[in-house]
Amino acid sequence: MKKEHLADYVLSIPDFPEKGIIFRDITSLIQDPDGLKDSVDGLIRSLEGIDFDLVIGLESRGFIFGTAIAYELHKGFVPVRKKGKLPRETISVAYDLEYGKAEVEIHKDAIKKGTKVVIVDDLIATGGTLEAACKLVEMLGGEVVKISVVMELAGLEGRKKLSGYKLESLICYE
Ligand code: PRP
Ligand code: ADE
Repeated sequence: MKKEHLADYVLSIPDFPEKGIIFRDITSLIQDPDGLKDSVDGLIRSLEGIDFDLVIGLESRGFIFGTAIAYELHKGFVPVRKKGKLPRETISVAYDLEYGKAEVEIHKDAIKKGTKVVIVDDLIATGGTLEAACKLVEMLGGEVVKISVVMELAGLEGRKKLSGYKLESLICYE
């Protein structure tokens, strides 16, 4: 049966991957045909009126939503990946996570100067990953015209790090 709210599809798992973290699990959302459709449609609606050339998705959960949007809107898709995964020449940015550290990369030739880019991910927590992705785009001369995510953990104030960007989330957890 179709659920009333998008958030009803997301399971919250306490103490994963470590004590004190409530893990907001999108696998329960995307395994449901209505959950998948409503989340992708919601992200597409968040891009109405935005002029852009390219969708960037963040590894790995951002790939799921990013490619669906790019396909539907007939845009190209560019992955931002964790260090060491991309085969050609890359640029990279290191940053802190809610749990741990990470470094992300993009292919150097993926974005041309002046390209208008939308960045998509499943979730914003501290905002470190999205901030790193914005830096990668800008290092290559691209412009981030919108950031769209399924979920926002508002208590971690990731939005503050991204105050210079248009950012929309479909589900907000306090
Ligand atoms: C998660 C999530 C976001 C990021 C958010 O990815 O999918 O990309 O963390 O955290 P932040 O706002 O504090 O940066 P993760 O690095 O766990 O990778 P995964 O999608 O491959 O599981
Ligand atoms: N990525 C970072 N924090 C997370 C959380 N609490 N739930 C799911 N993914 C996350």
